[in-house]
Amino acid sequence: MSTPLINTLEVLNKENRISFHTPGHKKGKAYENTGDGGIRENLYQYDTTEVFGTDQLQDPSGVLRESQQWTAGVFKSSRAYYLINGSSAGVLSMVLSQTKPKDEILLPRDVHQSVIHALILGDLTPRFIQPGIDPLLNIPKGITAQQVQEGLKKHPNCKGVLLTHPNYYGRGGEIREIRRLTRKLGIILWVDQAHGAHLGLHPELPLSGIDAEADLTVMSFHKTLPAMNQSAVLFAMGDRVDRDRLLEHLNIHQSSSPSYILMASIEQGTRYYSEEGKEKMGELLEGIDKFEKKFQNLQLFQLDRAPGKDRTKIWIHTENSGKTGSEVETYLRENHGIDMELSMPQGLLALTSMGNSKKDLEKLYLAFEELEETLYNKGKMEKFAGNLRKEGIFDREVERQQEEPSGIPIRTAFYSDKERVSINKSLNRRAGSAVTPYPPGIPLILPGEVISPRLRDKLLEYEKRNIKLIGIKEGKIMVVTEE
Ligand SMILES: Cc1ncc(COP(=O)(O)O)c(C=O)c1O
Repeated sequence: MSTPLINTLEVLNKENRISFHTPGHKKGKAYENTGDGGIRENLYQYDTTEVFGTDQLQDPSGVLRESQQWTAGVFKSSRAYYLINGSSAGVLSMVLSQTKPKDEILLPRDVHQSVIHALILGDLTPRFIQPGIDPLLNIPKGITAQQVQEGLKKHPNCKGVLLTHPNYYGRGGEIREIRRLTRKLGIILWVDQAHGAHLGLHPELPLSGIDAEADLTVMSFHKTLPAMNQSAVLFAMGDRVDRDRLLEHLNIHQSSSPSYILMASIEQGTRYYSEEGKEKMGELLEGIDKFEKKFQNLQLFQLDRAPGKDRTKIWIHTENSGKTGSEVETYLRENHGIDMELSMPQGLLALTSMGNSKKDLEKLYLAFEELEETLYNKGKMEKFAGNLRKEGIFDREVERQQEEPSGIPIRTAFYSDKERVSINKSLNRRAGSAVTPYPPGIPLILPGEVISPRLRDKLLEYEKRNIKLIGIKEGKIMVVTEE
């Protein structure tokens, strides 16, 4: 069949589904009242290149420089760098430009894969902090200042600290206190704020990396602001950042043909943030308040209501319902035309943005109300949580990882001679590549990590349940070839 992708997009588009996932413009709905700066109407005309008047992203001195300066000002930072390869390019550039091979950095184990890619490319030595786990909801918490302090005491040579803030579930770290620690030691603070471009729009939201004066903060505009996929911005503050090296690295990790559509979309995201952002965020949080209040009537499903979390990320715990998060996700998709961001055995995530209406939230609530009623009527609440825990997959993403997972440097393992072996045969071998459930894109196994009986069993469990893992192909995992 020709154009299979376009055909599929056409079909999905006609279904008019409700989006609780990225991108944050929610099929353009965020622009319904205020317009999108003419992007949709002039798509092909705006899709230009570096010609007279359009400046050069590799070394901006004209309109792109002006646009970036404006974005920096709106977000109260000193410099902004437009990213057309998502926060992934920003993470690589911000980490690699401020480190040298073999440097140690302190970071949580549940970082996004782009950070692991930076470790591989830069031959960096990770010193991992284990995130705390919420005992009721079984999701990772934000990183505390005490954890960072202890990590830096144990590894005093760290050149910097990297935080994911907020994490995928909306839990933030103690960013202000952590900033105090890094400042005192004169080391860098990188903030992976891919999920928090909307922070700063409401006092209830966690503090932004910029407000905490982090040296470098990267934000995926496309995730939580109205902007197109891949549009993101890296913000730099203070005088610790080597800006020449930063620009060099941005040019390594980004396309030399930057999309003007994406850059216009970033600018449009900034405009939205600066003009109607505060009002729209207030409305969204009001809608979420109502949703949360009604949701308390339900017995089988619980929301994450941790104080200070980013409430625009609605984590719904399904453990008491007898259904896994993935089963509930399928139910919502098939019966209510609702698409969620992420599901795990213990729950699922609705990623809301200012493009979601109160009606969307109402429909989400009603779908859960109906599901609860059906489950009660059918008496179908098996104790799935206990079973899953026994099977060892329930905590699939949040299990405690080894603190020094590689034993050999991640880069050495990655570039070693490698071979694919069956999961059973991988026991006690070193992984040659990362193994990652996606989403959330947080590697379960890192290159160099020894496949313990527990990890092997986990991989088998994934296989049994038909859950796709990036890094596993036809039941085989890449391991380092033995001498
Ligand atoms: C924590 C985190 N950092 C970075 C990224 C990469 O962002 P992008 O998709 O904009 O490249 C993601 C993507 O999901 C993420 O979850």
